[in-house]
Amino acid sequence: MRLSKEFREQFSQQEMRTHGRKNGFVTDGQEKRLLQWLPKIGLPKGKTLNDANIPEQSPIVMEIGFGNGDFLVHTAQNHSDWTLIGVEIYLPGVAKAVGRLDDAGLIEQTRITQLPAQYVLEHQVQSEQLAGIIVNHPDPWPKAKHHKRRIIQKDMARLMVSRLQVGGFIQLASDIEELAEWMRDILDNTQGLRNVAGKGAYVQREDDRIFTKFEQRGLNAGRSSQFLHYVKESDDI
Ligand SMILES: C[S@@+](CC[C@H](N)C(=O)[O-])C[C@H]1O[C@@H](n2cnc3c(N)ncnc32)[C@H](O)[C@@H]1O
Repeated sequence: MRLSKEFREQFSQQEMRTHGRKNGFVTDGQEKRLLQWLPKIGLPKGKTLNDANIPEQSPIVMEIGFGNGDFLVHTAQNHSDWTLIGVEIYLPGVAKAVGRLDDAGLIEQTRITQLPAQYVLEHQVQSEQLAGIIVNHPDPWPKAKHHKRRIIQKDMARLMVSRLQVGGFIQLASDIEELAEWMRDILDNTQGLRNVAGKGAYVQREDDRIFTKFEQRGLNAGRSSQFLHYVKESDDI
């Protein structure tokens, strides 16, 4: 790994506690693109979205745990007016997504970080700054003793809502039924949010939605996905 210590300290994270892998193999070509792009569109620890040179009128939408960037690329293609904040702790995923966004000519529409979503939301996003938050197929952590590692928790839900503008959305997907129910039950009971499908219900899969790696993996294993859509109704949270 040739990314310098200084570069890693700014743009990636080693010391913050997260659940899930952070490191893995990154090719020379991918590393070159990280070095080229992260100084321009990365979100280093000391900076916030206010320092990120985001066009004033652009709705800011965050994807948490974008994996290899399937949905990030798709969303950037379909919403050229949005600025997308991609948050992913796994460096090879970040590297792959940066390459794909660069190839598609979409990279300057994004800000990308390897910091954990909880940190980004708490320290780098201000109150009511986001127009939307997307979470696709978060890690299921199936054992009961690991449920506290799941990304959607009551505190995290409150933090997400505090960072959303009134009228902003949270969209989630999971191919694991028990996790979909877990997320739905937490978000259904989070103040300020309305479940678009009605409490306890899921929305239909949108026809033009792409299959992310993990949705496809679920399908291959015989599992269909559930989709959730919430809107922030008030700032009375
Ligand atoms: C099961 S994968 C899903 C990837 C992709 N969204 C998809 O649908 O194919 C979950 C992703 O969430 C990332 N992740 C886990 N904890 C995270 C955190 N605290 N902040 C940001 N990303 C996280 C993991 O590294 C992993 O890439």
